[in-house]
Amino acid sequence: MKLSGTFKLAGDKSISHRIALLSLMASGECEVSNYSTAKDCMTSAQALNSLGGVARFSGGKLFLSSMEYRFKNGANIDCGNSGTTMRLLMGVLAAAPGKFYLTGDESLMRRPMERVAKPLREMGANISCAPSGTPPVTLQGDELTGIDYTLPVPSAQLKSAILIAGLRAEGVTRVAEPVKSRDHTENMLKTFGADISFQSGAWCVRRSKIELPSAFSVPGDPSSAAFFLCGAAMLRGSEVIAEGILLNPTRIKFLEKINGMGVRIEIEPKGESPEPWGNVMSRYSGQLSPCNITADELPLLVDEVPILALLATQAHGVSVFQEISELRIKESDRIAALVSELGKMGARLQIDGSNLIIHGPCRLKSHNSLESFGDHRIAMTLALACGIADAGSEIRGLSCISISYPEFFDTMKELTS
Ligand code: S3P
Repeated sequence: MKLSGTFKLAGDKSISHRIALLSLMASGECEVSNYSTAKDCMTSAQALNSLGGVARFSGGKLFLSSMEYRFKNGANIDCGNSGTTMRLLMGVLAAAPGKFYLTGDESLMRRPMERVAKPLREMGANISCAPSGTPPVTLQGDELTGIDYTLPVPSAQLKSAILIAGLRAEGVTRVAEPVKSRDHTENMLKTFGADISFQSGAWCVRRSKIELPSAFSVPGDPSSAAFFLCGAAMLRGSEVIAEGILLNPTRIKFLEKINGMGVRIEIEPKGESPEPWGNVMSRYSGQLSPCNITADELPLLVDEVPILALLATQAHGVSVFQEISELRIKESDRIAALVSELGKMGARLQIDGSNLIIHGPCRLKSHNSLESFGDHRIAMTLALACGIADAGSEIRGLSCISISYPEFFDTMKELTS
């Protein structure tokens, strides 16, 4: 298999979630172009409707209007597979008058929510999770007071929930993150007029109003583009260009990593609004060097670990991904899934404490019972692994790919024909 050509991406998932969910706190009306087509982002749009608002799709755009922070009391919101929807909503609803219930699918019902509930409770929120710290989450809006909080785990979702709650809290809410994670919430709150600033190593937010811009265009999703940009790096004769993708530095660390493995990458910046975006070219460049990831780098490429692990199986030498246990509590246990499923194809991945060690290069073999574990990023990684291997593989559970990248197979077809 060889990948060649140019491809476009639907809007970035993280930014799409945020424009939809921040509209719950904001005034004004907004016409959103290139909103993500991911099922997860449809879940966030649907959450607005469940809360009594209107998120309306028309002519390929999403129309959002202010809800003035008045939500349907007793609303039961199904967050589907989306951790971002649930965790950010916890921040939005912590001070909202009324009672709200958050649930999700089988995978989301196993994911940790107490890490978000705890600091919000310290702010005065009335929140409960199941005894295991997982959903369902029940919130009864209350008066909030700002706190000084240092993130115990690097998580953009946790940081975002606290900053969002800080918009409705008395006094100052300070959030320090020892390890940097994606910064879209801070960027958008600043642009939308919140009283937020970075002081003495922490984000400080005060009670303030935000206003939606009248128009907002979401750049393409780099985490989806990563599958084909990395795919081109391991398939002889490949060259692909991802057009119009988000180039926020907290999201494209993976490009630096694959460039460090010896892959030719060219970045052509095209615009700055709402965040930097442009085109990215990736070309097969022959032998790959190993890839090492440190704990400090992980939050900047957390969603790209599965595809980088596949790339590392093709590198000459040993790659070490350090301290990646956060991957165990994503949509599936991604470490276990990578070790078992790429292992079935002959790859040598080994767990050493919380590190993942990958020995390359390896000639991947087909296998007739690969499993996605219902995890979209595992499914796409395996689909590309099968493209490298001989024909004859079968992957169970590919439909979950629509959680983040419904156009994945169409793009694959275009780039391979
Ligand atoms: C996201 C943050 C990351 C990432 C997820 C999206 C976000 O999760 O894995 O896909 O939009 O804030 P964590 O905050 O749990 O690291």
